Amino acid sequence: MREDYINNIIQGDCLELLKTVPDNSVDMTFADPPFNLKKGYNSYKDKLALQEYLDWCEQWITEMVRITKPTGSIYLHNIPKWLTYYTTFLNKQADFKHWISWDAPTAPMGKTLQPNHYGILFYAKDNKQLKFYEIRYPHKRTRKAHILAKDYGGKKAMLHPFGPLVSDVWTDIHRIKHNKYRDEHPCQLPIHLLERIILMSTDEGDIVLDPFNGTGTTAIAAKRLGRKYVGFELDNEYVEITKNKLEQETPNSKLGHSWVSYYLDEIVSLRNEDWSDLKEYFYIPTKIEDIDHRPICLKSKLGISVPLKSNHKNGKEEHNTLFDPIIG
Ligand SMILES: C[S@@+](CC[C@H](N)C(=O)[O-])C[C@H]1O[C@@H](n2cnc3c(N)ncnc32)[C@H](O)[C@@H]1O
Repeated sequence: MREDYINNIIQGDCLELLKTVPDNSVDMTFADPPFNLKKGYNSYKDKLALQEYLDWCEQWITEMVRITKPTGSIYLHNIPKWLTYYTTFLNKQADFKHWISWDAPTAPMGKTLQPNHYGILFYAKDNKQLKFYEIRYPHKRTRKAHILAKDYGGKKAMLHPFGPLVSDVWTDIHRIKHNKYRDEHPCQLPIHLLERIILMSTDEGDIVLDPFNGTGTTAIAAKRLGRKYVGFELDNEYVEITKNKLEQETPNSKLGHSWVSYYLDEIVSLRNEDWSDLKEYFYIPTKIEDIDHRPICLKSKLGISVPLKSNHKNGKEEHNTLFDPIIG
């Protein structure tokens, strides 16, 4: 990988920039391209003719596969309609792993079913060499009584104290709802969505590249998790917002020696293999079946600083330290 691209956000057309990246040099590529839905981006007109959009997508997807290492992963986020085309491009050049259904309501489409998920295609550059880590997320609980939402019947004693392994249906990560957490960008992804993907597919120090940087969700997630990032973005203002936010971030998403993903003082994703080190940081009921009504909780709060809306014009970032009670 070019040294000048490492930990940098570069303004320009990603198709041109991708061509300057050496073969097999990136550990993970993630793309959240424009969806051709006439979104109000600053510099990009999100309205191409169908074939023009598909031809363009095939070109940058091919570049993404080329630059990904044989041990690496390729992720593509989009609405299901476009992903059906993407699979036909990708099946020729990489190994299908999963179609992750990310449960997030989208705009009504007229006289048809209400779309309720985005898709994230997950491909291995080479299935035999793929680097992959299993992830766990917290048990789902009822909102008021905090008992397990799922009835495990007589199997409660076999439950994992933290929570189940992540499947290919993700219902626990929500889109950014509140404007104070949102930049001036029409479709910003939540950071802990990218953190889960990065924890699943990379190690500390690995390189993560996003050709459609937007306001930098992938780069920020990578930096928080001690990975290297590369971002390409057409719009100069989005580049500036990203750089300003990145300056405020430190690689601090750690509990003990393990990288974790947290949101509002709670861990939302951790690696299965790290649990033996991480469990000492939690109060866990002695009788494991008691987690049905007694959630495990962290012995001490993480006390993190959550960046609010970026105020890049005066070079300042507002911060708000949140200490939401951990359920329990
Ligand atoms: C769906 S948004 C990505 C949002 C991003 N995932 C985030 O969370 O902030 C797509 C982005 O791609 C950018 N874009 C469009 N065409 C591009 C191109 N040819 N090269 C680089 N960036 C481009 C747009 O300006 C927009 O910011």
